[in-house]
Parts: sequence; structure tokens; C-alpha cells
Amino acid sequence: MIDPAPRHAEYDDIAAEYAASKQLPFRIVVEAPTLFDLAGDLRGLAVLDLPCGDGTYSRALARRGAASVLGVDLSGAMVERARSIERREPLGISYQVGDAAGLGTVGNFDLVVACYLFNYAHTAGELLAFARTVRANLKPGGRLIGINDNPRTPLSRYGDYAAHGFSRTIDLPRREGSRVRYTFPTQDGKTFGFDNFWLAPEAYEQVFAEAGLADFRFVDCRAEVPPGQDRALWDDFVRDCPITGLVASR
Ligand SMILES: C[S@@+](CC[C@H](N)C(=O)[O-])C[C@H]1O[C@@H](n2cnc3c(N)ncnc32)[C@H](O)[C@@H]1O
Repeated sequence: MIDPAPRHAEYDDIAAEYAASKQLPFRIVVEAPTLFDLAGDLRGLAVLDLPCGDGTYSRALARRGAASVLGVDLSGAMVERARSIERREPLGISYQVGDAAGLGTVGNFDLVVACYLFNYAHTAGELLAFARTVRANLKPGGRLIGINDNPRTPLSRYGDYAAHGFSRTIDLPRREGSRVRYTFPTQDGKTFGFDNFWLAPEAYEQVFAEAGLADFRFVDCRAEVPPGQDRALWDDFVRDCPITGLVASR
């Protein structure tokens, strides 16, 4: 498939920095174990990774036995990173540039993996467009799993996560579309960041039902703490965790 004419996406400017952030301990100890708990047995499944970013999870899904993986992302730079890794270490993954809001049907999947997609919706209407895309690409009985900025955290839990390598702040008052800003220090002493947007947990529930997806729910994250690491630090991280799992099905 030929990609549409490139347009500027926020992640085109931060593709390398974001890829480096996938090595932060919270990704490995909390994000990935939570995601793969939700995924269960991937063997034989056709999977859509939306958004795929640089393909970090597309590759992990393929390595865990998915029969096919298609990764789609708005950012041409992120997709190019994913494709260049695929050229070096082929796993049979396909990638394409596309906007989840208007993607339409690109396949008939057993599983859609949406890691940090829905938190890009500024409004319930945008969230509905994302959810409709998920439904349009799922087989009957197919599942959605994902990781998201956690809209359920109390305001007191925004702020500095310095021990985990980032900060997360929210514009007040918290209301539909409030900006949630993530900032990460980089190795050269600078910072990079990106914006998510807050929607009420109830809006997620309503929108997924309206899109024809059943049994939507948020799932608390869990920490898979390596031996010798500070368990209390991770217990604190997953309490009112800044990120959340989510599931639904068609
Ligand atoms: C935080 S990254 C997550 C990437 C990947 N899922 C991961 O966990 O590594 C968010 C990604 O969402 C993409 N994105 C944002 N809005 C999008 C949209 N409307 N359609 C498709 N991708 C989008 C960005 O380009 C970026 O690569």
C-alpha cells in the first residue's frame, strides 16, 4: 500500500527520543507486563498495532507468536524507524502511515493493540472516531487491549515521577480535553515531551458502547519487579498509576 502524502505529526520531531524512552524501567517493569497479561496467548492471531510508534510492541507481538502484525501510525518518522528495524531484522511485520481517526477498514483482526492511542483524543467525538476504527477492524469476538494515560488518577498524583524518569502534569481545571504533559529528561541534559488529553473515565465507557464495543473497562497495571529492586518504589508507582490497561471486545 502506498502511504498518503506525508503530513507533519508531533512524533516526527521526537521519534529518536521517544524510542529511547522505551528503555525506561517503568516501561519494562509495568507497561509491558501489563500489556502482555492482557494479550494472553498470541499464537496464530492477526494483530493490528495502532499506533505502532517505532514498532517496539509490533515486534514483541510477532515474537510472541502472532500470525501477522500490521502496525499503523500517524508519524512517518516513527513508521520509518519501524520499517528500518524490520529491514535489518525481518519478522514479517507490515507498517503503514495512517490516522486512526479516519483509517477505515485495513483488515479483519483477532486483536487490536492500542498503546497510547485514545489519550490523543481531545474530545469524546474524536474518541468515538478512534473507537469506530477499532471496531471496523475487529472480527466478531475479536478483542481490543491497550495501555493509556490513566484518566482515573486523582489530581494529587500528577507531578514529578523523577525516580521513574519523567514528569506528568495536567492543565487545570481538569475537564474534557485538558492537556496532560509528559516531560522526559534526555541523556544530553535536555528534555523532550508530548501532550495527551484528558477525558473522563465515564466518557470512555459511553463512547466505546456507542461504537459497538462491549465490556470496555480499565485494568490496573501491575509491576513485575526484578529481584533485588525496590518493591516499595514500584508498589507506589502502580497505586493510582499514571498509566492504565484497558480492554473491550467486539
Ligand atoms: C506514545 S507513542 C506510542 C507508540 C507505541 N504504541 C508504543 O507504545 O511504543 C504514541 C504514538 O501515537 C501516534 N499517534 C498519535 N495520534 C495518532 C493518530 N490519530 N493516528 C495514528 N497514530 C497516532 C504518534 O505518532 C505516536 O507514534
